[in-house]
Amino acid sequence: MKNENVKIAPSILSADFLNLEKEIIEIQNSGADILHLDVMDGHFVPNLTFGLPIIEKIKKTAKIPVDVHLMVTNPELYLEKLGKLGIDYVSIQQETVFHLHRQIRILKDYNVKAGVALNPATAVSTIFPILEELDFVLIMSVNPGFGGQNFLPLVYDKITKLKETAARKNPQLEIEVDGGVNNLNAPELIAKGVNILVAGSYIFNKKNYSQQVNSLRNRNVR
Ligand code: DX5
Ligand code: ZN
Repeated sequence: MKNENVKIAPSILSADFLNLEKEIIEIQNSGADILHLDVMDGHFVPNLTFGLPIIEKIKKTAKIPVDVHLMVTNPELYLEKLGKLGIDYVSIQQETVFHLHRQIRILKDYNVKAGVALNPATAVSTIFPILEELDFVLIMSVNPGFGGQNFLPLVYDKITKLKETAARKNPQLEIEVDGGVNNLNAPELIAKGVNILVAGSYIFNKKNYSQQVNSLRNRNVR
């Protein structure tokens, strides 16, 4: 059964950076729904990726929505600029900010879908007071910083709690899961209410991207 409500968001962290344009075209042709861009500052996470000039180029090339996952200590430095670039989704790590509500408002002012990302050890209840303001929540199923890590099953409970509260407070809320996502955990994630699956190594480490993308979306393919 094909699940049309589930969006697949390949993380280009595992793509070939020397051939990024080619990779993006290929991933779009594979039927992916969203491009997931991991911004790491070497401070909040022990790894460094790319910043605004590269995001700008990618946004110009992309034909599908772009999702920027900010793993940086000072996300406020990026929000207006991402808004001006017309980025579609932006998530801020809950652990990095004092004034989360204010930062979410900045994204909304630019009509960016505003999200909060939660590390594995951060409780979902920490964002319940502002749940109505959010377009999506990103549940990290690995400790952020690297691709190719093992999925942490502790997220299942968090998703259930989030889904229950969202049903009352914000039924439109999108739920994204990121880290170690593959064809084995995707069916349970979808069943629990996740509608955006991020996957890096699971997709880019194989030659046939389209087969990998479809195997996440389709419940019966293992
Ligand atoms: C991890 C990043 C993820 C990562 C996922 O810090 O936020 O987006 O690229 O990669 P996989 O799917 O390989 O765990
Ligand atoms: Zn990510």
